[in-house]
Amino acid sequence: MKTALLLAVLAAGVQAQELYLTTIGYTARPHCTRPPSTPSYRFEPFSYTQNETVRYATSVPSPTATHTCGPAYAEALEKLSTALSTTTWGSWLPGETVISATDTDDQYGQAAWSSLWAEADLVNYTSVGMYTTTVSPTPIPSSELVLPPRDYFGPTDCYTFPEDFLFGVAASAAQIEGAIALEGRGPTLMEKLIQDNRPKNYITNENYYLYKQDLQRLAAMGVKYYSFSIPWSRILPFTVPGSPINEEGIKHYDDLINYILELGMVPVLTIIHFDSPLYFLKDANISATPDIGYNNGGYWHPEFVDAFVNYGKILFTHFADRVPVWTTFNEPLLYAYNFTGINNVVQAHAQLYHYYHDVLGGTGKIGFKLNNNFGVPKDPENQTDIDIADRFNEMQLGGFGNPLCLGEQYPESLLQTLPGTQPLTKEELKYVSNTTDFFGVDPYTATVVSAPPGGVNACSQQNMTTNPLYPYCVTQEVTNIYGWNIGYRSESYVYLTPTYLRSYLSYLYSTFRKPILIGEFGFPVHDESLRELPDQLFDSPRSQYYLSFLSETLKAIWEDGVHVMGAFAWSFADNWEFGDYAAQFGIQAVNRTTQERFFKKSFFDMVDFVGARAGLGY
Ligand SMILES: *[C@@H]1O[C@H](CO)[C@@H](O)[C@H](O)[C@H]1NC(C)=O
Ligand SMILES: *[C@@H]1O[C@H](CO)[C@@H](O)[C@H](O)[C@H]1NC(C)=O
Ligand SMILES: *[C@@H]1O[C@H](CO)[C@@H](O)[C@H](O)[C@H]1NC(C)=O
Ligand SMILES: *[C@@H]1O[C@H](CO)[C@@H](O)[C@H](O)[C@H]1NC(C)=O
Ligand SMILES: *[C@@H]1O[C@H](CO)[C@@H](O)[C@H](O)[C@H]1NC(C)=O
Ligand SMILES: *[C@@H]1O[C@H](CO)[C@@H](O)[C@H](O)[C@H]1NC(C)=O
Ligand SMILES: *[C@@H]1O[C@H](CO)[C@@H](O)[C@H](O)[C@H]1NC(C)=O
Ligand SMILES: *[C@@H]1O[C@H](CO)[C@@H](O)[C@H](O)[C@H]1NC(C)=O
Repeated sequence: MKTALLLAVLAAGVQAQELYLTTIGYTARPHCTRPPSTPSYRFEPFSYTQNETVRYATSVPSPTATHTCGPAYAEALEKLSTALSTTTWGSWLPGETVISATDTDDQYGQAAWSSLWAEADLVNYTSVGMYTTTVSPTPIPSSELVLPPRDYFGPTDCYTFPEDFLFGVAASAAQIEGAIALEGRGPTLMEKLIQDNRPKNYITNENYYLYKQDLQRLAAMGVKYYSFSIPWSRILPFTVPGSPINEEGIKHYDDLINYILELGMVPVLTIIHFDSPLYFLKDANISATPDIGYNNGGYWHPEFVDAFVNYGKILFTHFADRVPVWTTFNEPLLYAYNFTGINNVVQAHAQLYHYYHDVLGGTGKIGFKLNNNFGVPKDPENQTDIDIADRFNEMQLGGFGNPLCLGEQYPESLLQTLPGTQPLTKEELKYVSNTTDFFGVDPYTATVVSAPPGGVNACSQQNMTTNPLYPYCVTQEVTNIYGWNIGYRSESYVYLTPTYLRSYLSYLYSTFRKPILIGEFGFPVHDESLRELPDQLFDSPRSQYYLSFLSETLKAIWEDGVHVMGAFAWSFADNWEFGDYAAQFGIQAVNRTTQERFFKKSFFDMVDFVGARAGLGY
């Protein structure tokens, strides 16, 4: 165990210990002065005292200057060693079985593009909604921007966000765009992943055509940073290096980025967010059980690294002049499938980092973002539980963090558990070391961990089929040592666990030693989708989640010295949670029939919280 890790885990242990074990009796109130021993009852003239002072959300200021963070297209193109070709393919509308085309000799022609969709063989899907062309935005009426009544309880801290803190909102392409077979996009794993009886409605939020309106709404609420992803298959429908670029795709994101900037907002771009091109999986069994993670994302494919790097360079060439923050991979462990996948992610990320800074001369920031529900020891005084928590966190984060942040080897726990592992060589370690400007993480919640029945060693020699606890080989629970839930429960796996966030941020910063970017955080209120609209919009549990998480983040920054670079709320609107529209993570509601959006209370509460604590630079 590394010393830094040991210290961090011990620190986490000490904090948890205070929470669990040393608070005896009622909550201390040292700041309260004792009132007189008896109240003085009296009659007073009565009047209504409530005030209905109206407050409005404040729009993000219009841009005053343009910031360049990389070479413009022509110069960037010169730095790229390969020639680029572009073309267009059009759209596949439902009802057409196959788009007829006669250019069957062209391996990247219209007929070949149609075959991609024919081979994808989508069953019972819906892909075209109300719109097939970009909708012009309309200004947001001030009547929609009136702040809701405050919740009675809320944070009372006196901190501000540092001047360079990035506050924003996030979403991913597959979950909001729709238009899956339109304007030249090729098929992705997202259209094949949902194999059970969940709805195969890929229209999602029709953001591909409604992005201007969506962005207007965010700007009107004062949101500065907008974190989105681009589907590889919209840029390169045929996936591989040398295949033509989809002109309509480039134009779309060019327009999106320019519109973000025009509104005074800043784009944050994720290169891949779960929507692997189907190319990598066409001969694979996508329901096969992985060694690690949830899905077979195709990252293990022998062509993956070169193809991903080629795609990433194409994005840089077109957009690096205007996009200052880049994330290569979203939660790569969930799609890694096996050790080859993890290793490929490490290599591909490092190559793109080197290209971005060393070849292109990009002056923005580039990193990755990982998943991990922070594992906290069930009994913080029990060394076995502390070791287990260490293993759990290290296995999910260290595969990427050790080499890419620290230039250190893959964790022993990974090397000893997964089949077919190979340590990085000295040369590889040197190349991949220190190739990230930030450590992105999606710290939604925490989980209580302890030793598995039979112990770690027996479990780690098995596989996912024979042991459901493999590969982490820890018992995970949602209750603390006394049987209480660790926090208020949501519609899905998220529990409201703000106090653990603070110790998690300390653990991450001390262990991986890079600025921490909270790439996503959010809370799907239980049964929200079953409620009437006004009741959905008054989402106090979500406000409690966001304000407490942000308040704990401020404490981590100012009291614990943790460099937290920014935080992006997931998500800016309810969306498609992988076949499911009921797990609503949004700070806006969406009417699925009309595609209308409605601001929820938590959105106002959050911009009020951040605005009231804004550093000078915000
Ligand atoms: C209502 O507003 C008046 C005038 O702004 C102020 O003096 C009073 O304290 C307010 N009352 C409450 C209950 O906020
Ligand atoms: C497709 O829809 C039909 C009619 O609703 C249904 O019988 C069939 O099971 C569906 N197939 C799949 C794969 O969902
Ligand atoms: C694919 O994997 C699933 C789950 O492991 C298995 O049940 C199924 O038989 C496999 N299909 C093929 C064609 O190998
Ligand atoms: C990962 O999975 C792929 C596809 O099944 C396979 O070719 C490769 O050998 C696997 N890697 C390891 C280390 O098992
Ligand atoms: C990592 O890279 C950054 C940026 O090039 C540099 O400032 C820093 O000193 C490097 N850190 C280490 C430990 O090499
Ligand atoms: C620590 O926990 C393990 C199981 O997680 C248990 O077997 C052991 O007895 C505990 N040790 C102490 C000192 O409580
Ligand atoms: C899992 O382990 C069992 C028992 O050793 C073995 O029979 C099976 O083939 C393994 N499954 C996989 C997917 O490796
Ligand atoms: C969506 O909007 C339509 C038309 O205004 C309305 O009839 C319907 O009730 C709305 N749906 C929900 C879930 O509110």
